[in-house]
This record gives sequence, structure tokens and C-alpha cells, in this order.
Amino acid sequence: SPVPPVDRHGRPLRDLRISVMDRCNFRCPYCMPEATYHEAFRFLGPRERLDFDEIERVARIAAELGVTKIRLTGGEPLLRPGLPDLVSRLRALPGIEDVALTTNGILLPRFAPALHQAGLRRVTVSLDSLDPAVFAHMSGGRGELSAVLKGVDAARAAGFEGGVKINTVVQRGVNDAGVPDILARFRHTGVAVRLIEYMDVGNRNGWDRVDVVPSDELHARIAALWPLEPLPPRYRGEVARRYRYVDGAGEIGFVSSVSAPFCGACSRARLSSDGKLYTCLFATTGTDLRALLRDSAGDAEGDQKLRATLSRIWRQRTDRYSEERARHRISPHGEEKPSRQEKIEMHYIGG
Ligand code: GTP
Ligand code: 5AD
Ligand code: SF4
Ligand code: SF4
Repeated sequence: SPVPPVDRHGRPLRDLRISVMDRCNFRCPYCMPEATYHEAFRFLGPRERLDFDEIERVARIAAELGVTKIRLTGGEPLLRPGLPDLVSRLRALPGIEDVALTTNGILLPRFAPALHQAGLRRVTVSLDSLDPAVFAHMSGGRGELSAVLKGVDAARAAGFEGGVKINTVVQRGVNDAGVPDILARFRHTGVAVRLIEYMDVGNRNGWDRVDVVPSDELHARIAALWPLEPLPPRYRGEVARRYRYVDGAGEIGFVSSVSAPFCGACSRARLSSDGKLYTCLFATTGTDLRALLRDSAGDAEGDQKLRATLSRIWRQRTDRYSEERARHRISPHGEEKPSRQEKIEMHYIGG
């Protein structure tokens, strides 16, 4: 069997995050601001997106090279027709131990049972506020708070149990004051809330460092309400730093890619819905696997070509964007240095 590649910093390839749909039914200003993603924006057409056979083929070859975890993302992945079918195909691949989904939750009441049936065991729902006005602002006026909460309940009812998590992107002066409300709602439910530092992903959200609430600050505010104690990481390079409530009400996590970057153990590759492979969330260029998928037959020789390409890309990888940002890009007012090139957009590559 093939030798699992390591990159230039000695990091193996373990996770593949697959964006199955570049569209979304929300317009979160930090991800898909309405000003850009209006009616005339040209999203990918169905034939531009990888089909399930193509996605399965990339995933199978990635698994041969060391990938054990897959996360399905978007845009909004549940807008992709037939997603449970893809889940069961990925679950069946040798070497794949874990398939998870990141969603805005709106379509979970419809799809949670079929997803669970297909073998999905972990769902993360994005939820930034329990205040209807703040929620409306942060979802670009598209989403309905009660529908997202119904989605969370639907996932719990479908049997996901401890596999349901909440992702909350925290922006100073926008939703940070409402974080305790979110935590209070999910204490004692087994649903872990993860508080994410607002990141400079993409080029269109007008990111400014002053809008970031560093995790240390947020941790202190929360611990004053409910004492916390740290939990050990479950795997090397775990993205979230986890804590448990001392009173036993459950656990929360902090994702601190701005204040405490975690590139050192980053084992994640990302596949866009049109088949480009990116080795960093902040990449400017990717490698087009779609042409290779469509030009080569699905036979041993074609697979070998694909495997060699994937392996080469990973071995050449040097990415550590968040660590470099921490070292080079701090300026007193938080404005970015003119960026070298356009970064890839979040809705296109997933989170
Ligand atoms: P599990 O540990 O498998 O539960 O998943 P995870 O922690 O990777 O969770 P998730 O994919 O929900 O990521 C949480 C947040 O961290 C999202 O907002 C992601 O965009 C962000 N994130 C995930 N991976 C990376 C990464 O490689 N780099 C950076 N900078 N941010 C990341
Ligand atoms: N900073 C931090 N997190 C973000 N997400 C989307 N855009 C950003 C950003 N600029 C989060 C979403 C979702 C996950 C896919 O990524 O809220 O939880
Ligand atoms: Fe859609 Fe998620 Fe982006 Fe919001 S953050 S616009 S829900 S993909
Ligand atoms: Fe990995 Fe890039 Fe995120 Fe660093 S910034 S953790 S290299 S995806």
C-alpha cells in the first residue's frame, strides 16, 4: 500500500474537508455578504460540481494516503440533493473512521433522520445568537432562529446525542454579549458549544482585528459565571481547546486561530465543490483535481495518477497562515497589509 505523505513541516494528512455546495441559504456578513452574493452572483452549475462518484473517488484515494476523518461542508451542504447517499458511501470506505457535517441547521428537521440512518454520527450547527434581531443580522436576514433551534432538536431526536455541537463565531460588539445566553441554553443538554474567534477568511468580510474577542478574554468572562476547568485534547492538534463546567453541566470549546494559532499539527486538506484541492483555509491557489478525475478512467492507472498528484501536493505543503499572521500582520489599528493575492472564499471551500 502507498506510503502516507508528510508535508514540509512533518505533518501527516489526516482530515479531508469536502465542500459539496458553494451556495447557501444564509448570507452571514462575515462569510457571504449580500453586497457580493446577490442575485446576479454566478455560483457553480451542477456539472461544474464534482458528482458523488468523483467525490467518493477522491476520498477513497485520500484514505489510502492517511485520511481517517471527513467533514462535509458548504456553503450549505444540505442544499446538495441526495446528501445521505454520499454519507453512506463515504462511511463505507476503508480507513474512514469518522464522517461529520457542518450545517446552518435550517434543513435538519427534514434530513436528520436520513443522515443518521446513512451512518452520520456528528453534526455541527452554526448558531451565533439567541437574540432574534442579532441572529437576523448575522445570518444576513435569511435565516429564522426558531428554525435553527428546531434543527438542533431534530438532530438530537434523530439519535445524534453527544454528536451535536454548536459553532458560534464571536464578533466584538455584535454578538459577544449574548454568548452566556447561548451557553445557558445548552448547559445540561450534552450539546457542546464552541466559541470561534472571528477570522480573516476570504477577502470580502472587511475583517478587522479589533472585532476579534480573544479566547482568553471570553474565557475569563464565562468562568466568572460558571467556573471552568481544562480538558485534555482528544487528538494531537485538536482545533478546539475544551473545558468542562466544574458543576458538571457539560463542556465548551474555544477555537482560537487568531490569538493561538494551531498550524503546528494541522493535518487538514480541503476539497472545493468544483474539485480543487487546497492545503490551507487561507490558501490563494488550489490544484484542480476535476480535470484529472474527468480525463482519467476510474481504473488502476487513473487512480495511481490521482494518488501521485495528491501525495505530491501534500509533500510540497508549507502552509501555516495563522502562525504567520500572528507574527507579521499585526498593526496598531488592525488593518491588514495589502494582501499578496486574493484568498479563497469560505463559502467555496467550507470552514
Ligand atoms: P472536530 O474536532 O472533528 O469536532 O471538528 P473541528 O474542531 O475541526 O470543527 P469544525 O470543523 O466545526 O471547526 C470549527 C471552526 O474552526 C470552524 O469555524 C472552522 O472554520 C475553524 N477551523 C477548522 N479547521 C481550521 C483550520 O485548519 N484552520 C483554521 N484557521 N481554522 C479552522
Ligand atoms: N471566522 C470564523 N468562523 C467563520 N465561519 C465562517 N466564516 C467565519 C469567519 N470569518 C464559521 C461558520 C461555521 C464554520 C463553517 O465556519 O460560522 O460554523
Ligand atoms: Fe452560509 Fe455558513 Fe457562510 Fe453563513 S457561515 S453564509 S450559514 S456557509
Ligand atoms: Fe491549517 Fe492553514 Fe488553518 Fe494553519 S491556517 S491551521 S495551516 S488550515
